[in-house]
Amino acid sequence: MNFSSSAIVTHHLAKTYRSLFRRRGLRALDGVSLDVPRGSIFGFLGPNGAGKTTTINILLGIVYPTEGSGEVLGLPLGHCEGKRRIGFLPEKFQFHDFLTATEFLDLHARFHGLDKRTRKERIERELVRVGLIERRHSKLREFSKGMQQRIGLAQALINDPDLVILDEPTSALDPLGRRDVRRIIGELKAEGKTVFLNSHLLSEVELTCDAVAIVNKGRIVRQGTLSELLQTQARVELHLQQTPPAVLPALRRLALNVNANADRLTVDLASEDDIPRLVEETVKAGGKILAVIPYRMTLEELFVRTVEEGRDNDP
Ligand SMILES: Nc1ncnc2c1ncn2[C@@H]1O[C@H](COP(=O)(O)OP(=O)(O)OP(=O)(O)O)[C@@H](O)[C@H]1O
Ligand SMILES: [Mg+2]
Repeated sequence: MNFSSSAIVTHHLAKTYRSLFRRRGLRALDGVSLDVPRGSIFGFLGPNGAGKTTTINILLGIVYPTEGSGEVLGLPLGHCEGKRRIGFLPEKFQFHDFLTATEFLDLHARFHGLDKRTRKERIERELVRVGLIERRHSKLREFSKGMQQRIGLAQALINDPDLVILDEPTSALDPLGRRDVRRIIGELKAEGKTVFLNSHLLSEVELTCDAVAIVNKGRIVRQGTLSELLQTQARVELHLQQTPPAVLPALRRLALNVNANADRLTVDLASEDDIPRLVEETVKAGGKILAVIPYRMTLEELFVRTVEEGRDNDP
């Protein structure tokens, strides 16, 4: 076994889908380099058509890259030993809907070569985990969309994988279901597993992930921990009891930009080192401070900005 500290590493992956109708084909990926630490929860984000599912399919060895290379769990892309240690929930899951929940999980457990006793234990464990134990004898065709997503997740965990890849795990779930998935992902992390997930539900990702990469038009445009990516600005919110007239001019002399909304001010500074002076000047100008709150961008703001920057750079 290879003990590389990364669960996933890729170097400049590119993928061109050939087509009869496009002479040059479609370049879905254009140099994707990722580094996903073991034991982390990693969000892989991007607008529709950015190349997320293509990247995931390459990591799984389902699609071959046209350029570049990578390793999953310390093994080359597509290595069968690596595949055995991955759990995968696909974006569009095709169910054998004539099977019951138990029969379906048993089938997948057999694909992984598990013996009868292990299969029985795992099936029960995962049905409990995803909240479907009561429905274990129901046929999948009777399942609601959210239940189908839950059983898909149970399927992804049946082989007790080291790396769990989830392509849109919560798209069909209600708020309680999403909270359940957050809990399950937390459990997987506590068990030392790595979770690589793709989701458009950015508030979910912000609550769940340690780090993210944003892909746009087949390229990684941002990558890092959430705190690195979201605390990039020296912006503070200043809550005052009231705002005497001298406060705003004093702050405008010091700050790059000040936005006032009643007694709540949003202040952009050149550096976080200016915060003590900001407080000093506010007090000197007669302001009574209730709170100074460092501003943290939301992931959604970062995402929208990043994707819009890409649009502005279009030829
Ligand atoms: N099998 C395929 N053959 C040809 N083109 C494909 C194929 N699969 C994907 N593509 C193209 O590659 C590009 C990236 O698609 P991909 O499915 O990877 O995007 P995505 O980021 O997963 O999008 P979404 O958020 O909509 O799921 C798209 O332009 C898509 O049309
Ligand atoms: Mg996709």
